[in-house]
Order: sequence, then C-alpha cells, then structure tokens
Amino acid sequence: MKREIVLKVNGESYQVYVSPEKMLLDVIREDLQLTGTKKGCEAGECGACTVLMDGRPVNSCMVLAFDAVGREIVTIEGVGGLEGLHPIQEALVEHGAVQCGYCTPGIVMTAKALLDSDPNPTEEEVRKALAGNLCRCTGYVKIVEAVMDVSKQISESPELREKLSQSQEFGAKTVGR
Ligand code: FES
Ligand code: FES
Repeated sequence: MKREIVLKVNGESYQVYVSPEKMLLDVIREDLQLTGTKKGCEAGECGACTVLMDGRPVNSCMVLAFDAVGREIVTIEGVGGLEGLHPIQEALVEHGAVQCGYCTPGIVMTAKALLDSDPNPTEEEVRKALAGNLCRCTGYVKIVEAVMDVSKQISESPELREKLSQSQEFGAKTVGR
C-alpha cells in the first residue's frame, strides 16, 4: 500500500506517495520526473543510477525510497542547470569524454563526490572512485583526464572551490499523489 513520504532532492522537499518496495531510482525518474538519472542494470553494478545521498555516491537502484527519508539527495539536475554546466560537465565535454552519454550523469555524480571530499586526488584515486561507473564507449582515459583537469582548476582557484561548495535554496513541491 502506498504511503506518503517526504524526500529532499536537489534542495527541494517533495511529498510523494509510494509503495514501500519502490526504489529511489524509480521515484526519482517516475514520481519526480527527474530523468537525468539513468536506469541501467538495476542490480548495483553499472553506476548509471548514481545519486548523492548526504554527499556520498549511491546506486539509487539499490536504495529503497523509504530509506532516503531524511537524507539530502542530489541528482544530476541539481549539479548543472540551465544557467551553466558544472565544471565537471564542462571538462567531460572539453576532453571528449562523452560519447553515447548514458553513463555520464552517474560519472558526474561520482566525480563530484570525490572532488567535494578531496579536491586533489591522484589519478589512481580517481580511477578507484570511478570503478563502479561502467562506460562502454570511452575507455576511461578521457574521463579520468577530465576529472584531473577539474582538480587542477580547483587547486588554482579558491573562488572556484568556494563556488562549488555553495548550498542550494530549499523550496517545497507536492507530486505523485
Ligand atoms: S542501474 Fe543502478 S547500478 Fe546499474
Ligand atoms: S559514454 Fe557511452 S557508456 Fe559511457
């Protein structure tokens, strides 16, 4: 039976009516209509569904929506908007690291979590962080180069680091009734 829960996603509170077995990925895509988060294996293996939960990357296909109550969820829509791409998105484009693009939202979320917690990772650490994000197209070299490039930009610009750590405003929405 569906029950009402409140999810905080991209700084907004959403009241949704979902069944207890529904996964966060499906609520994000179907109830919230935030389709930037992709559905791949639905088994926790490809990383296409990666979102941030309290700042840490999680496979949203493996998280019950009920378990996301009270957590701060960020999807790709909360990272880059119409006003401009996030530096990670810009770097991926500039380095030719986006081909079919299906893995890209998940890669952006994982890279963001990494750089938020450690703005100066080694290449090894970048590869390790991205190990759960499968890409069938690029061979990863350009993706890793792009993330290292953003790391370099952050280290050269305290303003950029400050900007990336800015929080969002909170609003309220009711959907899915
Ligand atoms: S769809 Fe979630 S890990 Fe593949
Ligand atoms: S760009 Fe196609 S799966 Fe990564």
